[in-house]
Amino acid sequence: MKLPICSTLLLLLLLTLSITYSKAQAQQPKKTYIIHMDKSSMPAAFSDHLTWFDSSLKSASPSAEILYTYKHVAHGFSTRLTPQEAHALANKPGILSVTPELKYTLHTTRTPQFLGLSKSTTLLPASAQQSHVIIGILDTGVWPEHRSLHDASLGPVPASWKGHCETGDNMNSTHCNKKLIGARFFSRGYEAALGPIDSKTESKSARDDDGHGTHTLTTAAGSVVPEASLFGLASGTARGMATQARVAAYKVCWLGGCFTSDIAAGIDRAIEDGVDVLSMSIGGSLMEYYRDIIAIGSFTAMSRGILVSTSAGNGGPSPGTLSNVAPWITTVGAGTIDRDFPAYITLGTGKTFAGASLYSGKPLSDSPLPVVYAGNASKSSVGYLCLQDSLIREKVSGKIVICERGGSPRVEKGLAVKLAGGAGMILVNNEAFGEELVSDAHLLPAASLGQKSSEVLKSYVFSSPNPTAKIAFRGTELDVQPSPVVAAFSSRGPNALTPKILKPDLIAPGVNILAGWTGAVGPTGLTVDQRHVSFNIISGTSMSCPHVSGLAAILKGAHPQWSPAAIRSALMTTAYSSYKNGETIHDVATGQPATPFDYGAGHVDPVAALDPGLVYDANVDDYLTFFCALNYTSFQIKLATRRDIACDPKKVYRVEDFNYPSFAVPFETASGIGGGSDAAKTVKYSRVLTNVGAPGTYKASVVSSGSPKVKIVVEPQELRFAELYEKKGYTVSFTSTSMPSGTTSFARVEWTDGKHRVGSPIAFSWT
Ligand SMILES: *[C@@H]1O[C@H](CO)[C@@H](O)[C@H](O)[C@H]1NC(C)=O
Ligand SMILES: *[C@@H]1O[C@H](CO)[C@@H](O)[C@H](O)[C@H]1NC(C)=O
Ligand SMILES: *[C@@H]1O[C@H](CO)[C@@H](O)[C@H](O)[C@H]1NC(C)=O
Repeated sequence: MKLPICSTLLLLLLLTLSITYSKAQAQQPKKTYIIHMDKSSMPAAFSDHLTWFDSSLKSASPSAEILYTYKHVAHGFSTRLTPQEAHALANKPGILSVTPELKYTLHTTRTPQFLGLSKSTTLLPASAQQSHVIIGILDTGVWPEHRSLHDASLGPVPASWKGHCETGDNMNSTHCNKKLIGARFFSRGYEAALGPIDSKTESKSARDDDGHGTHTLTTAAGSVVPEASLFGLASGTARGMATQARVAAYKVCWLGGCFTSDIAAGIDRAIEDGVDVLSMSIGGSLMEYYRDIIAIGSFTAMSRGILVSTSAGNGGPSPGTLSNVAPWITTVGAGTIDRDFPAYITLGTGKTFAGASLYSGKPLSDSPLPVVYAGNASKSSVGYLCLQDSLIREKVSGKIVICERGGSPRVEKGLAVKLAGGAGMILVNNEAFGEELVSDAHLLPAASLGQKSSEVLKSYVFSSPNPTAKIAFRGTELDVQPSPVVAAFSSRGPNALTPKILKPDLIAPGVNILAGWTGAVGPTGLTVDQRHVSFNIISGTSMSCPHVSGLAAILKGAHPQWSPAAIRSALMTTAYSSYKNGETIHDVATGQPATPFDYGAGHVDPVAALDPGLVYDANVDDYLTFFCALNYTSFQIKLATRRDIACDPKKVYRVEDFNYPSFAVPFETASGIGGGSDAAKTVKYSRVLTNVGAPGTYKASVVSSGSPKVKIVVEPQELRFAELYEKKGYTVSFTSTSMPSGTTSFARVEWTDGKHRVGSPIAFSWT
């Protein structure tokens, strides 16, 4: 909800700039560019790459300075150039590409926002090997004094570790310990774009002034802390997923955003330092793999055996809203858990609705208060959104105000109502948010309400001469069912970039998550919020991503020899997509069963993932073949992978045969209007399974949901594995009859030896 405002501001800023400059006819302003160089074409005259970079740069712009040099993510550097200089540089020898920097965002539903939750994940056996695993978190930094970062049960830092704790504002090497083993910051791109950091408002160091970074880091690998809660809510023992793993913070996101030159530098350094898992709850818009810095950086990371876990984005519930879809990345969507923070809203008629809230201050009076719809108490045409300064004091004073979601952070709406003299707030959902109940630590008594109850509430308020209501807060409720349900905000497939790869890969807890918080700001993140909390409850795919990063660290500890693809496969093929009663996991946005476009392979099940039986493995060569199947040129492949590859023009490369643990099968309805042929269309996908368990015979089974629209045949039906790491291939053919464009259908293929169930979702779509 924050995004549209930001981009509007940005647009205004750009417009203002362009007017000024066209008036002055001045040289265009400089921007940050990331330059990829062709390592192999360095002239022999240069003794090292840095002098070559510098000489190339100076030939196009005598005054330009290098911001960062990159070693792993790209062979190259970033710098500030005018568009003319960038153009000139792009034509110099040895330059592969000159790409303008982009701004990325954190994947919380909105930055200063809170929801409420705890997690129900089974405690896993702590493995001594886990303490050799290092998780790097690219985010807003870390609050190093946090209780969750104690290192009481940990041995010495792994000898292979090359990172350290950088000195900066309020932070130096004494702030790291055997849990937090590294903390670095990358601000050159940010400062080049927005000016020097003001140490009064923001620490120029890895210290977290926002809270997001401390939250994701402690979710992935926080130590065990008893008696954690937010104002007594969600109370209990707080712990990250991999309590024995080590963490390193790479601060690349600042109060003004995350810039790609800094992100690239962070990934580069994390690879150099020796992380095993890289967690990035960050994303930008979807673009070709060879242009996307997260995809490019992750490719190098993957090729070094580092598992990269990212958030799917908070663009749901609309279809095709994913970011971070590269097949060498693990893409994580968000679901709810079984904990709620109920608040009951009782109308003057006596009717009561269940809502949710993390409000913890003085309760409202027991007698009913007048209720007003914000849209009826504002001069603004969007008064119902309760934006700042939009409410008429005389109309809201002493009343409970009904505000609609959207347009501004939820806690900011609460503040707007409070400042206008309102007594309380009911935050109502429209259709897009459905029945999703987000809980917030509001500054005034407030609760959120699902769409159906919201409609009833509003029609009561619109039709009654003197409408009244009460709000009662009921703390924490456990064992809420059904759970998980897919969060409305969680970004959805289909994959707009590569439709034959299903994304997201899986879902994990991302709604109302309790984890560590910064000491710099209160739980709402609002400047007026003077409260201090060590734990906060927030939501987003930003929160689900570090759950999977931590679980991947557990798997890496248990199976150090597994590749990133094998670890992801284990997490995916053991994920569940139905409740114990057999019903498919629900989508909170619709109240209907969700689909693999929403949850991928399903909800993560870490205990099952430790022993998956079989995995779909993939190595660097498989990914290079994938690029050939996309018809990338050698040049594009080089940009994405830094490798010189020529695809064999005589060979047939197919995305259908890329060894992914799930299936996305788009059918064309080209026959279309008029006399299209009704002849059945068959497509064939092939896969290879690797045995990571005991010898055994696995049998295939196929389950279609609803009425089958596609005939599915697995060949062979049985695979016998005699040895560990033995590989066996199979094919699946899908035969479809004509379907109208826009149709979707789903199925599942499962291999089982009686003990393990190796499941893959299949998503059909007709375009
Ligand atoms: C590191 O920071 C701590 C706490 O802020 C301070 O007491 C200490 O003197 C600093 N150490 C160094 C070497 O700067
Ligand atoms: C209040 O707002 C609603 C929705 O915009 C509208 O239907 C209704 O007529 C308004 N009521 C008054 C009294 O203005
Ligand atoms: C790549 O090119 C081949 C041959 O022209 C074509 O059949 C195939 O659909 C293309 N693949 C993609 C992903 O565009």
